[in-house]
Amino acid sequence: MTNNGIQLTEEDITGIKVDAIVNAANNSLRGGGGVDGAIHRSAGPELLAECRTLGGCPTGEARITRGYNLPAAWVIHTVGPVWHGGTQGEPGLLARCYRSCFSLAQEHGVRNIAFPAISTGVYSYPKEEAARIAVQEARRALAENKTLAKILFVCFNQATKLAYQKALAEF
Ligand code: APR
Repeated sequence: MTNNGIQLTEEDITGIKVDAIVNAANNSLRGGGGVDGAIHRSAGPELLAECRTLGGCPTGEARITRGYNLPAAWVIHTVGPVWHGGTQGEPGLLARCYRSCFSLAQEHGVRNIAFPAISTGVYSYPKEEAARIAVQEARRALAENKTLAKILFVCFNQATKLAYQKALAEF
């Protein structure tokens, strides 16, 4: 289902052939579990080797690497906030993650990009609030960046898909 350039999909992000996939990483950029682990497993060891040259990534920022064995040409690694109840700047940091990813995408002429539900797994960010931020930032990016044609939100479970469907209906 496409909604003005935004599409929801339920597949494994590592198999999606887009210009860039986004990784929900941690500050070390040394890999981990969840989507981070899946992306590193699929990309192969060269991804970690390139990540090691980047010196980590502060929460809210993003770094770009090649995709190596992934079908995607680029991986944009971003570090989402850990949810602590919403009173420690989490919403602003999550919004910054999306903006950081979109600005790197623009710098690299990315036409289509796939995002996981950043921070909503291990980092426990509530899915509905996170989806609202994701959709709002996606709408802004599509309006500002004419090179960007398609944004895929990868919903790896039913609860995430429902949250994104609700957010798309609201904005
Ligand atoms: N494809 C798409 N989405 C996936 C995949 C996959 N292969 N695997 C997991 N997901 C989904 C999860 O179901 C969740 O909806 O990605 C979303 C983000 O969850 P996490 O991967 O746990 O990421 P996050 O909550 O941002 O926590 C980041 O987890 O893996 C570690 O190194 C990572 O420390 C960092 C932390």
